[in-house]
Amino acid sequence: AAPPAGATTATPTTAGAAITTAGTAPAATSHPPTGRAASGRDSLFPGQGTDAYDVRHYDVALDYAKAGTISATTTVRATAARPLPRIDLDLEGLTVRSVSVDGRDATWSRTGTKLHVVPRATVHGDFTVVVRYGGRPVTHIDPDGAKDGWVPTADGATVLSEPVGAQTWFPDNNTPADKASFRVAVTVPAGTEVAGNGVLSGESTRAGRTTWTWVQREPMATYLAMISIGQYDVYRSSLRLADGRTIPVTSFIDPDLGSQAAARAQIAPAVRFLERHFGPYPFSSVGIVASRIKVGYALETQTRPFFDGPVDTSTLVHELAHQWYGDSVTPADWGDIWLNEGFATYAEWWWQEAHGGQTRAEAFAKAYATAADDELWGPAPADLHDPALLFSDAVYTRGAMTLEALRHRIGSAAFDEVLQRWAATEEYRSTDTDAFVALAERVSGQRLDGFFDTWLYTPGKPARP
Ligand code: ARG
Ligand code: ZN
Repeated sequence: AAPPAGATTATPTTAGAAITTAGTAPAATSHPPTGRAASGRDSLFPGQGTDAYDVRHYDVALDYAKAGTISATTTVRATAARPLPRIDLDLEGLTVRSVSVDGRDATWSRTGTKLHVVPRATVHGDFTVVVRYGGRPVTHIDPDGAKDGWVPTADGATVLSEPVGAQTWFPDNNTPADKASFRVAVTVPAGTEVAGNGVLSGESTRAGRTTWTWVQREPMATYLAMISIGQYDVYRSSLRLADGRTIPVTSFIDPDLGSQAAARAQIAPAVRFLERHFGPYPFSSVGIVASRIKVGYALETQTRPFFDGPVDTSTLVHELAHQWYGDSVTPADWGDIWLNEGFATYAEWWWQEAHGGQTRAEAFAKAYATAADDELWGPAPADLHDPALLFSDAVYTRGAMTLEALRHRIGSAAFDEVLQRWAATEEYRSTDTDAFVALAERVSGQRLDGFFDTWLYTPGKPARP
């Protein structure tokens, strides 16, 4: 058998072969592994999630009462690579009523936002946890002061969970390092709509209650799981993708926002534009949710991005670009969020260039003209240290600038190939900046450690490229 990764081999065949097969040659970047890769803990949210097991599937069945309370059952199907006497899940608020593991009652305790489950027998390999719970879900307040998690509204509730709000509505392994498929069935008073992720596989009414069942087959990070319960107009159409697939387009529009016809008409051209540059659309449905609830941000909830008001084209392009970069290709560690926001911001620049607006080079130049003491140049995009900086200019704008500077450095042809291969090779996975740097070096044939060191890891304004 091959030596485990990182092991040194004492039996080199030829000098060249020993170097390439041992896997010990340092990557051409000067950075040791950071964040989750190094410690198994998130660099910005060290208490979130665990690497003790890997969730394969979440099944959430949730009953919503008009009074704003829920009664729910979440089934977590997971695999433990080593024997586990205890299973830790993330859960914030709510009351746990019962827990079972592999069909047998389990005991549990709670500390902070952890639900510690002790099964009758140690689990190893595949196991299933069923948690019954309920109550009035809490809203999570992000480090930057924004609201996420369960947000009650006048006519229902919405859950938006970046970065860690998902734990306010279902027990989970709440880290982007662990993605899974989902089935979410939400039962509401008949006449209320429920938006969710993926494909609407059923909508059935019995005794005045309607169950909306959403199925997300491709892996999804917990922070991208969304439901929005309320009064919506539902618009259905379909979209033909570049590779011939036809997928449903299902959009939920708050009637107070009109029909958002112009925005809905932009979904198809935006997806086609992004497919041209990033490769095949990674999911099997698409659409938008436009609500009047004010959270102060839009979110790239998988397959069905959420907007807290009228939808403008640039933000639509941004959230759709996240379907490739963020949703399909997901940073395992929150410290690598520039891989989401830098790319989505870059997609906005690219769209503007292709539609008679400023060019990407002009967008870069404009941002570069920002004074050296501006907060844009404060933190380094891939070395944040403070979770309140997740959604800062340093991440969005300097992240996008890093990509434009990379294009300048390696040329447009190599750059285009890097973006497409990044989407293709990391599709549905959780990954990191080191992998991106390695890919850029492979495709370009250049050593780029100094370049990325400057743009991603060094605070302060880089010298003009
Ligand atoms: N990822 C979202 C976007 O598309 C922004 C989320 C903002 N969240 C927050 N807590 N401030 O840009
Ligand atoms: Zn974004």
